[in-house]
Amino acid sequence: MRPSEIYRPDLLKDKVVVVTGGGSGIGRVIAEECAALGARVAIGARKEERLNAAAEAMREQGAEVFAQTLNIREVDQVGPWLEAVKERFGAIDVLVNNAGGQFPSPAMGISPRGWRAVIDTNLNGTWNMTHAAAGHMMSAGGGRIINIVANMWRGFPGMAHTGAARAGVVNLTKTLSLEWARHNILVNAVAPGVIRSSGLDTYPEAVRQSIETTVPQHIPLKRLGKELDVAWSVVYLASPAGDYITGETICVDGGQAHWGMVFQP
Ligand SMILES: NC(=O)c1ccc[n+]([C@@H]2O[C@H](COP(=O)([O-])OP(=O)(O)OC[C@H]3O[C@@H](n4cnc5c(N)ncnc54)[C@H](OP(=O)(O)O)[C@@H]3O)[C@@H](O)[C@H]2O)c1
Repeated sequence: MRPSEIYRPDLLKDKVVVVTGGGSGIGRVIAEECAALGARVAIGARKEERLNAAAEAMREQGAEVFAQTLNIREVDQVGPWLEAVKERFGAIDVLVNNAGGQFPSPAMGISPRGWRAVIDTNLNGTWNMTHAAAGHMMSAGGGRIINIVANMWRGFPGMAHTGAARAGVVNLTKTLSLEWARHNILVNAVAPGVIRSSGLDTYPEAVRQSIETTVPQHIPLKRLGKELDVAWSVVYLASPAGDYITGETICVDGGQAHWGMVFQP
């Protein structure tokens, strides 16, 4: 694997790291960075071709990768998928709940179906994975859960559904960090601001244009983030550097949470 620009090569040696949505964008870069640090990685997402291409690219660089399609919304798929990871690698040390998705819309334009889909993926899907993985971690004596959320701290106009779902995940992060501390399961979150990634390609052209031109003006550091910025914080929390951190959310957003809005109400 290509060496990490930040961390020592064996930082996550032999750890088993599960990354949902690990076939693209931020999730793929998280998986690659963990593999570069010696982890065995398991990636799951719905689109098989993209998932397998990501896995193959990592294997070609010497990484040990488990890749199998997964829909985190389907609770019946989640248990067997994690069992298959356990069978392959013998453990589940770290779960990164990165899979997610939404569409920009004024709140009144969100249909009941659209609302349910976004909540189902971002909140219920995260819960499905977390609940099932925690069982394995409890019997193994501990683990780490890292939830990728979003910058919704002052409301999220144009993204009401995902703002509600991510706020739910942040509260879940705190609750589980307390309930599961006795099991040595550390639960944290990383909240990306606006990151240049494949996720942005799914937005309409006008939104993408605004993200490239207007949005940076509303970020104190005056630039978008990169996928590795998020991956480095995830690794920090997964590594011994995070041994005494639980229930926290790290904002990786160039200061945006403190200032400016992404979308105008
Ligand atoms: N980019 C940003 O600026 C930004 C900012 C804040 C938060 N985030 C969040 O960061 C995460 C990664 O985003 P990204 O920018 O890398 O976008 P992305 O490339 O669209 O990544 C989302 C990933 O989640 C997977 N996924 C979606 N629904 C799923 C499901 N039901 N079951 C399993 N996998 C599913 C997708 O794969 P399939 O379609 O193949 O299932 C895809 O690999 C997302 O949760 C996103 O909302 C991104």
